[in-house]
Amino acid sequence: MKLAITGKGGVGKTTLTALLAQTYAAQGRDVLAVDADPSPCLAGALGFPDELRAQLHPIAEMDELIEERTGAKPGTVGGFFTINPRVDDIPERFSILHRGVRLLEMGSVELGGSGCICPEAAMLKTLFTHLLFRNDEVLLLDMYAGVEHLGRATVDFVDAMLVVVEPTRRSLGTATQIKKLANDIGLSRLYLVGNKVRNDDEAKFLETETPDIPLLGCLPADLKVQEADRLNIPVYDHVPALRESAQAIIQKINQLTDDDEVIL
Ligand SMILES: Nc1ncnc2c1ncn2[C@@H]1O[C@H](COP(=O)(O)OP(=O)(O)O)[C@@H](O)[C@H]1O
Ligand SMILES: [Mg+2]
Repeated sequence: MKLAITGKGGVGKTTLTALLAQTYAAQGRDVLAVDADPSPCLAGALGFPDELRAQLHPIAEMDELIEERTGAKPGTVGGFFTINPRVDDIPERFSILHRGVRLLEMGSVELGGSGCICPEAAMLKTLFTHLLFRNDEVLLLDMYAGVEHLGRATVDFVDAMLVVVEPTRRSLGTATQIKKLANDIGLSRLYLVGNKVRNDDEAKFLETETPDIPLLGCLPADLKVQEADRLNIPVYDHVPALRESAQAIIQKINQLTDDDEVIL
């Protein structure tokens, strides 16, 4: 199962990714969670203790490793370096395990467009492709509001892209943009997940105003989410309503992928 989680900043991508990761882990599945946000905070959402967080280093910041693998120092523009460096050992070497979830931090690199081709971008692109080709039981990608980490070659391996939205028109507008970007690279298995939904009106709004993307489920707004953050406890442990919503979403995802197999 390979899921990519996208959406505008602040909508709840990291909260959802952590919930899904810990739900799958509680079901006994091996989970690899990848924090691809330029400012990583999935470790916090998963409740990684300080001593484990200290061991986490974003791949994009590993200058020596990048130089060793690509043949050029990060920051180099032009010159020669390999654009498909060896990366197969990286998930095992640099991910940190906590409560059944292995976490890998990608770090920040300008990946967008065709313009930037630097050693660190080559490294991350290759690593993303590798992650999608691998056979992890569950792979969760906590991404940025876009699809720049994915390419045409990899979209077939994404079982579903979840676009997190709040019940506002502006948020749905972002979802429409993400859908366009996804369609451009041939990714069609796109689903909305509503978050911070306060009442039935807001849930209805999402159901009726979705920009042609099926709604997979909703997570309620709950002040205990912020409380969990303050107390440094995973939302999975602290907010039963959100944990149950995440479980329901996983059930839906399982149904969808079962249906796919029937159609095939
Ligand atoms: N269902 C919710 N109810 C209340 N607050 C939430 C909910 N989901 C997320 N939040 C809060 O919204 C903020 C952004 O969430 P986060 O998951 O970090 O978003 P993103 O990863 O999309 O930037 C955080 O302060 C988080 O605690
Ligand atoms: Mg985030």
